[in-house]
Amino acid sequence: MKLFLDTANVNEIKEAHELGVISGITTNPSLIAKEGRDFFETLKEIVGIVGDLPISAEVVATDVEGMVQQGEKLAKIGSGIVIKVPMTADGLKATKRFSDQGIKTNVTLVFSSTQALLAARAGATYVSPFIGRLDDINQVGMNLIEEVSQIISVHELPTQIIAASVRHSTHVIEAALLGSHIATVPFKVIEAMMKHPLTDAGVERFMKDWEGANQKTF
Ligand code: E4P
Repeated sequence: MKLFLDTANVNEIKEAHELGVISGITTNPSLIAKEGRDFFETLKEIVGIVGDLPISAEVVATDVEGMVQQGEKLAKIGSGIVIKVPMTADGLKATKRFSDQGIKTNVTLVFSSTQALLAARAGATYVSPFIGRLDDINQVGMNLIEEVSQIISVHELPTQIIAASVRHSTHVIEAALLGSHIATVPFKVIEAMMKHPLTDAGVERFMKDWEGANQKTF
């Protein structure tokens, strides 16, 4: 399973890219608003950092013509730009139009298997089931990953699943075990995935023992 970074913060993107663990970026209007910067400038800077890795950029129009117009403009920013569209009737129509033009799409705000199947049939490159927001309303978000994963695999659909709305590292492992192709994670989840108290204690112990070993320095 690949990892995408779910942020519009360029410092986080630089740091995670340097770690060598991320294969793409996802943004959304809330993440863009949080940074308080120009949308297009931010996307151009992200392209400068990650090159042609997939970068999801979301349209904010709610009608198909507006979505297509915005998406075509966004797609010109870089070869890795993926147009994120909401899982609505207009979003599906826009997905089909983008797919016919060879523009990649990420259908977002997916909360059921039927939505995921429709998005895949409309030609979505990626579908994003939101795990955390389902957990928030006392549904088991991971069940959706399991169902969508099975449907996509049984019917050999080319759409890739991005497990989204990931809140902690257990979500990442469960999504990987259930066959999600990708999990998009906030930077704090990458940090949490890296950490283990026994690693910290082990490094400290090795350093201390080395100090007492009377070896020549490197
Ligand atoms: C995914 O593409 C979304 O940007 C994101 O995962 C939403 O997560 P949230 O539910 O924590 O806002």
